[in-house]
Amino acid sequence: MSLHCITLKDGADLDGFRRAVRWLMAEELAPQHIVWSLDGTPGLFGDDGMSSAPPISLPRSVARLIELGVCHRDPERYALLYQLVWRVLNGERDLLEIASDPLVHRIDTMARAVRRDLHKMYAFVRFRRMRGEDLERFAAWYEPEHFILETSAPFFIDRFRSLDWTILTPIGSMRWDRHELTFGPPTRREDAPSEDSFEEGWRGYYESVFNPARVNPTAMRAEMPKKYWRNLPETASIPGLIQTASQRVDAMIEQEATMPAKRMPERAIEAMWDQEPKTLEELNAIIAKAGPLVPGATQAVFGEGPKRADIVFVGEQPGDQEDIQGRPFVGPAGKLLDRAMKEVGIDRSKAYLTNAVKHFKFEQRGHRRIHSKPTAGEVKHYRPWLMKELELVRPRLVVALGGTALLALTGKSTPISRSRGRAQFGPYLGYITVHPSYLLRLPDEATKREAYEAFVDDLRHIHDLAQADPETGELPLAAE
Ligand code: URA
Repeated sequence: MSLHCITLKDGADLDGFRRAVRWLMAEELAPQHIVWSLDGTPGLFGDDGMSSAPPISLPRSVARLIELGVCHRDPERYALLYQLVWRVLNGERDLLEIASDPLVHRIDTMARAVRRDLHKMYAFVRFRRMRGEDLERFAAWYEPEHFILETSAPFFIDRFRSLDWTILTPIGSMRWDRHELTFGPPTRREDAPSEDSFEEGWRGYYESVFNPARVNPTAMRAEMPKKYWRNLPETASIPGLIQTASQRVDAMIEQEATMPAKRMPERAIEAMWDQEPKTLEELNAIIAKAGPLVPGATQAVFGEGPKRADIVFVGEQPGDQEDIQGRPFVGPAGKLLDRAMKEVGIDRSKAYLTNAVKHFKFEQRGHRRIHSKPTAGEVKHYRPWLMKELELVRPRLVVALGGTALLALTGKSTPISRSRGRAQFGPYLGYITVHPSYLLRLPDEATKREAYEAFVDDLRHIHDLAQADPETGELPLAAE
């Protein structure tokens, strides 16, 4: 019998292979009579009748192996997969159960390699913002080992549905424009943007989630082989992180910092609470162990400042940057607060800054974690911790920054515009003002400037009040 040549695309030509297999089986052409060619010009063999061949039915496990097998780089992949189909449909239906069969073993090994390659791609693709684009567009350069581009697409669409992204690889490119997926030709590394403002974001995130207590360079290299490093912004941090790991472990132990992933059962929290924390460290250990009420936060963000402080500033909840760095008021709102404090002479290092809610709550939109306002129930849940914090810090003045802080301190939801100014929060002298992020959200520069001036005025009063005589309430002479 003469040989038949089947030509498929040199890539993962699953459709072409399926069509060919249907036809070959209908013609009862055994594997030894077929030559599989991968010259990239499908249709050499002609399509005569191939498309109209009747469908065949294969066990699900075999179909899955084919889907993975066609992605492998091995030039013999189609020949091997056809041998598998031929044997399964000619009396060896349970062939896959014979792991010692050389063909099964070889195809299985290929499928495992493809699966591993997919996992690496899911983990190591890094999108970067493209320069000079009006609309937000992101691109990533990646070098897979096998032909996995199309198979990987559903994962990236699912993860980054609301972003306009392109993945460029030497085996082809794919673009998702938020609605449709299109494939393009192979690309070169130079076509992908190399660095941008995102770079810092990834690096900061990686540094914050890096756990120095677990450092194990060998395991790290196994999980993240060096060949992937040059595409990953965060790898610039690895040598430094390893070098400083032991100091960071010491600091971690000292601070009792933890990264809670799960929430502790309510009864366990109550049991810990019953022990009555006597120091901020004990209190923070409870907050850390309890974990976030709403899942998602990287870590609990504790109050920060001296153990005894004249002024406590209470915000709403940590934002994206605070969640990553594990410190309150370090993002854009924090920077604005710093600036205003400086203007009136409040020394941030002498004040105590905390939040009504200790974990970041957000909505994931593509790459971005969008702040989501805590509910009254969540504020209530965290309230005992805030009260304990105040009891331990014993400030002269407590400042509510915005409505959530005010709700936490008074149990009432009152508009800031109606309550702004001096107040009393239980035993504490209080002051109510806006949250700095409110200033950032104002629409135009003139309104922003005016609101900022009013905020600075509030801080001036706060500074004075904190220095007032606790007995008589008299302000220092300089403030008059
Ligand atoms: N907003 C807050 O309320 N707290 C922070 O720590 C940061 C932003």
